[in-house]
Amino acid sequence: MSHELSEFIRSIYNTNEFIPLHAPTFGEQERANVLDTIESTFVSSVGKYVDDFEAQIKNFTGATRAIATVNGTAALHTAMYMAGVKRDDYVITQALTFVATCNAIYHMGAEPIFVDVARETLGLCPKALEEFLEASAKVDGERCVDKATGRVIRAVVPMHTFGHPVHLDELNQLCNKWHLTLIEDAAESLGSYYKGKHTGTVGKYAALSFNGNKIITTGGGGMVLCSSEEDGQRTKHITTTAKVPHPYEFFHDEAGFNYRLPNLNAALGCAQMQQLPLFLKQKRVLADKYQEYFKNSTYEFVKEPNHGKSNFWLNAILCEDHDARNALLEEQNKAGIMCRPIWQLMHRLPMFKSCIRDNLAVSEDIEARLVNLPSSPI
Ligand SMILES: Cc1ncc(COP(=O)(O)O)c(C=O)c1O
Repeated sequence: MSHELSEFIRSIYNTNEFIPLHAPTFGEQERANVLDTIESTFVSSVGKYVDDFEAQIKNFTGATRAIATVNGTAALHTAMYMAGVKRDDYVITQALTFVATCNAIYHMGAEPIFVDVARETLGLCPKALEEFLEASAKVDGERCVDKATGRVIRAVVPMHTFGHPVHLDELNQLCNKWHLTLIEDAAESLGSYYKGKHTGTVGKYAALSFNGNKIITTGGGGMVLCSSEEDGQRTKHITTTAKVPHPYEFFHDEAGFNYRLPNLNAALGCAQMQQLPLFLKQKRVLADKYQEYFKNSTYEFVKEPNHGKSNFWLNAILCEDHDARNALLEEQNKAGIMCRPIWQLMHRLPMFKSCIRDNLAVSEDIEARLVNLPSSPI
């Protein structure tokens, strides 16, 4: 199987060279836009491309406001700040995520609580969340409080793993019932939809990432999606040093962040947005090929959930067991085909090992068996 799989992946990408997990694709427009910023000298925090990029993301996603940031982690940090996450609060998220989700919680002085994921989405499971809240939390006025410690549980952060949309309606209903703010970590899911709505537009806030490995890239970059105009204005203000507009005076009315996306990066993003519909089509063709290939094998292809459309940012398979996963990773990487395990679960990392966690049986099973396959658009 393993040699045959290498041959299959090589036939898709039509190369004998090293095949990366996900490589960016740039065209003439990217070159022209970046050159334009250099020639104009507007490479930094001021320039037309930032506004244009924000407008394009807002229109594409249907978000009320989209505010560009220097990366996805900064976007998540800003979303936590906007949600009013405070020191010693708890924020519920999944252990099966990239470390940035939890770092953003940690940098607010808060602590993550880990709840299991749903098998069909690889993202936060509404049933597990409900059971956790029923057992461990109570509503105190307008707040949700952890019964054991009396500390506030402020927000819930599901992550759309590899672009597969989570059960947003159910999570949103739970958040409303328990007075929790829903923040979507949509870093991986630009171009993914839940029941026709773009991911990141159901929660009060969401974060996107345009890191080099994402479906489109600005080199480094992110975006906060806001569900109200007022929140959008405040997000723009606090991510741009909280400077009060004035032709020459410097007055900052609170301790803001310098999370501005440089115009140089936004220029790349504007050109990449033109290519996004094509990338999405190409990635669906690739996913179909993988799905067909693994149909009668011992590997289970991770499909998109019935309730939505995935951007198939990273294709994934589940191996029979941990040994089969290790063998596949070893063989493909040796053959110059980059395959990758999923992230180690967050509660195994030193800084999060003592955080509260619920039963994580599904997360642990997926961690043990999942492999990501090369997923650059074809
Ligand atoms: C789930 C998730 N959250 C957050 C981030 C952080 O984005 P960035 O690398 O742009 O800071 C990433 C990607 O890198 C991610 O995959």
